[in-house]
Amino acid sequence: MNDQLWQLPPVNKLTTLEQTLTQPSPLELFTPDWPGAEDVTIYVKRDDKIHPVVSGNKWRKLKQFIYGYAEQYLDGAEGSTNAEGSLHAEGSSCTAKSSVRLISFGGGFSNHLHALGYVCHTLGIPLSAIIRGDYSATPTPMISDLTLWNVDIEYVDRITYKKRDSAEYLNTLKERFSPAIIIPEGGSQEQAIAGVAELVSEITEALATNHNTEFDTIIAPVASGATMGGIVSALTPNQHAIGIGVLKGQDYLESLVNQFLPADLLAKEILTKELAAKAPASNEEENKANSNWHINHEYHCGGYAKAPPYLKAFCENFNNAMPFKIEPVYSGKVFFALKDMLKKGTFKSGSKIIVLHTGGLQGAR
Ligand SMILES: Cc1ncc(COP(=O)(O)O)c(C=O)c1O
Repeated sequence: MNDQLWQLPPVNKLTTLEQTLTQPSPLELFTPDWPGAEDVTIYVKRDDKIHPVVSGNKWRKLKQFIYGYAEQYLDGAEGSTNAEGSLHAEGSSCTAKSSVRLISFGGGFSNHLHALGYVCHTLGIPLSAIIRGDYSATPTPMISDLTLWNVDIEYVDRITYKKRDSAEYLNTLKERFSPAIIIPEGGSQEQAIAGVAELVSEITEALATNHNTEFDTIIAPVASGATMGGIVSALTPNQHAIGIGVLKGQDYLESLVNQFLPADLLAKEILTKELAAKAPASNEEENKANSNWHINHEYHCGGYAKAPPYLKAFCENFNNAMPFKIEPVYSGKVFFALKDMLKKGTFKSGSKIIVLHTGGLQGAR
């Protein structure tokens, strides 16, 4: 990662931040010498290249929200920086140093808090990070970065952290930090869906322009379900998304994705399930064909952030041999799954497969 970019001084415009992002992210041909890979074409959507910090699915999920926030609270942000680093707009009483605080949640290695911390620091937005566990004696590299970016950090125990979606707890936080807006853990909220959906249009356009083709299958990791929800919302009926569950969550992860699907897609999903219950499919393949997405639960490798030796070895070998890096929490499990599925002959010969690299490499520091 490019450490210099992390040291960027605060800038006064969202557009300046946007100029540092690689958008659209590259779509790269991936040709591993893995058994089964010779029968298909694989492309990797390199969202990890969007930005050294705001990488992967982070900008996708935050973009719409930050634009809305900027419009409402950072209006008139163009101007000069004063001695304290707050920005006074010329000919306007607005300041870019907003008083409306953001509050969000994550673990000690959270990619979301890291990206949000950087965005807030860059745009002059106050942020409170509620972190699961007490790292005050041994801050992780992620937490050290947050400190560097003046993020207000509050460590809470696991029981308090579990309340992160409870209205009562969130109201207490909002009152304490008033005026404040809550961003859910992982940045997974309704606005995230439209931001994620853009990656599907980028892929479609790049394939049409550069390869005169379309894709059949897209593979992505699933944790909170928002990334998968955004992808599914943008697929055409002949395309299929395979989610790789990165935690143990049969049915639970599906329900998370469902909650992010637009109403028409959700209604279709429910109808499909009802029909399937009346006339059960004779095999799993048929079941999958009924919907244009499903989650594979075979590759959580023991649970969230669990990295058994075989997964660590896979990531290490991959990072030594391939042109880009993966980490064990998200992308490692996805590429591990891809290799195994290719070996098992999961994909039809001639399939065009997209693997979404959602970034997250900072978490492996
Ligand atoms: C790097 C990375 N990839 C994938 C995911 C999973 O995405 P989602 O939570 O939207 O399912 C996350 C978590 O947000 C993440 O940090």
